[in-house]
Amino acid sequence: MISKNLEKAINEQINKELYSEYLYMAMAAYLDANDLDGFAHFFKMQGDEERFHAMKLYNFLDERGGRIILKAIEKPDHEFDSVIDIFEKAYKHEQYVTKLINNLMDLAIKENDHATKSMLDWFVDEQVEEEASMEHLLNKLKMIGGKGNGMLMLDKELGTRTFTPEEE
Ligand SMILES: [Fe+2]
Ligand SMILES: [Fe+2]
Repeated sequence: MISKNLEKAINEQINKELYSEYLYMAMAAYLDANDLDGFAHFFKMQGDEERFHAMKLYNFLDERGGRIILKAIEKPDHEFDSVIDIFEKAYKHEQYVTKLINNLMDLAIKENDHATKSMLDWFVDEQVEEEASMEHLLNKLKMIGGKGNGMLMLDKELGTRTFTPEEE
């Protein structure tokens, strides 16, 4: 059985992961509207990944005898200045999520909840990847300057991204 404190905090994180899915969908919608199909596809896959994160927490909470309580998902921005602006915001968002995961881990450590700590280890590692992939693409975009042929090449490359959830 999980503590009420951790149950509340994990529910909060489920909401943040679903907001992340929403945010990346809003980014995809902006990119689709600007005919950048590959970039849009990248953010749709990113959204699927966030949904997977939410469900990972959902399943864990259920297995531990906690109750899943879904709250309203915050409305994401729909307007962006440029593709670089989108990646700057996505990178910043992932850094924010890393902080949330770290806070959750701090709570699990404080409560000496080994099962939650073990589950969160996966998220700690995942956030390293999440931040790295956004930062890498942001740097590439800055090299290209956010326009020209390089953009078309990157759009094509990102159009091939796939997402396969790991086997549980
Ligand atoms: Fe996530
Ligand atoms: Fe993420």
